[in-house]
Amino acid sequence: MIRVNENYKKLKSSYLFADIAGKVATFQKENPETDIIRLGIGDVTRALPSACVRAFHAGVDEMADDKSFRGYGPEQGYDFLREAIAQKDFQARGAEVSADEIFVSDGAKCDTGNFQELFAEDVIVAIPDPVYPVYLDTNIMAGRTGEFNDGRYDGIVYMECTRENNFLPSFPDGPCDLIYLCFPNNPTGTTITKAELAKWVGYARENKALILFDAAYEAFIRDDSLPRSIYEIEGAREVAVEFRSFSKTAGFTGTRCAYTVVPKECMIFDKDGEKISLHGLWNRRHSTKFNGVSYPVQRAAEAVYSEEGAIQTRALVSYYLKNADLIRNTMDTMGFDFVGGDNSPYIWVDGNGRDSWEFFDMLLTKTGVVCTPGAGFGKCGRNYIRISAFNSRENVEAAMERIKGALG
Ligand code: MLT
Repeated sequence: MIRVNENYKKLKSSYLFADIAGKVATFQKENPETDIIRLGIGDVTRALPSACVRAFHAGVDEMADDKSFRGYGPEQGYDFLREAIAQKDFQARGAEVSADEIFVSDGAKCDTGNFQELFAEDVIVAIPDPVYPVYLDTNIMAGRTGEFNDGRYDGIVYMECTRENNFLPSFPDGPCDLIYLCFPNNPTGTTITKAELAKWVGYARENKALILFDAAYEAFIRDDSLPRSIYEIEGAREVAVEFRSFSKTAGFTGTRCAYTVVPKECMIFDKDGEKISLHGLWNRRHSTKFNGVSYPVQRAAEAVYSEEGAIQTRALVSYYLKNADLIRNTMDTMGFDFVGGDNSPYIWVDGNGRDSWEFFDMLLTKTGVVCTPGAGFGKCGRNYIRISAFNSRENVEAAMERIKGALG
């Protein structure tokens, strides 16, 4: 008899963004005249930078000629891309990361979701609340949680992020082994200072824990005092893995390219306390289950680091940051309390006691604007909504006018 992985039965019936897409599709069917504006899932709307498009085309042309054609590439990514990443994203900023510590992949969602496979089933996992749902759902699938009770899963250490602690995860009050951090944060849009991040590195070192640091929104940081990488913090190489993505940086959500850094010094432990190289383990997993990102896509990603590509990707991110400004100004004018949107594409809006799903429904039905209900990210989000800055200027302006008209 073929039996189910019982852990899947603990999951909510569908993935948050699939759930929202379903609700929006039903609403659109019933209200075909409504022009819906999507500020829900953080999906980019603008074309790829022209430097990337040119490199992408050139990569395809190479595949069209027997002499330059390529079959399977290295699972970890081509050297040309790994070298560019190591140099421009890390070494140029004073963070020690070498090309062979970089694993190119098809997405930070997959990498942050898959990485937990390397750890024992009974490691204690600390997850911020609110949180990008992938971290939690994949640990539920792996059997690291008990049942869902009163908005939370038994067995998970929840690190609350509230107005009271400036939305910085609270330190776990008991032991924990695996810590998920995300800055600039999804969903709250908040950032972390070097001093605060250094406390987490210190905590991980003291407790022989590991930090999974999701920096997918790093390109949105415009305050130069803020860390862009956890490896800017001394001692992080032994206790942290970092995830990055070209999705939001260069408009690659549909093109698919990301990477994960696993430093050679990073160790985990077997049941006898013997050290094991995390880099070696991830390499084993990655080369067993993944066959690499396509060659033209890696050429397109490499172009992000060219002089022209760097200017274009910065302009692309600035465009969305301007949208975020517009959203912030509107929320401010309307008297809503909010955080995020200055070094991040997400604005986390306090609904003034409103239930987040009711707020979502109200915005959708009254204005045709889609946001993300905070409850979908955890219990601490139940009175918040997340508004994404990823859309055209015209649509963001129209959405803000509609919201002002309906609620102002
Ligand atoms: C989000 O809206 O949180 C993101 O777009 C989801 C993702 O990157 O997978």
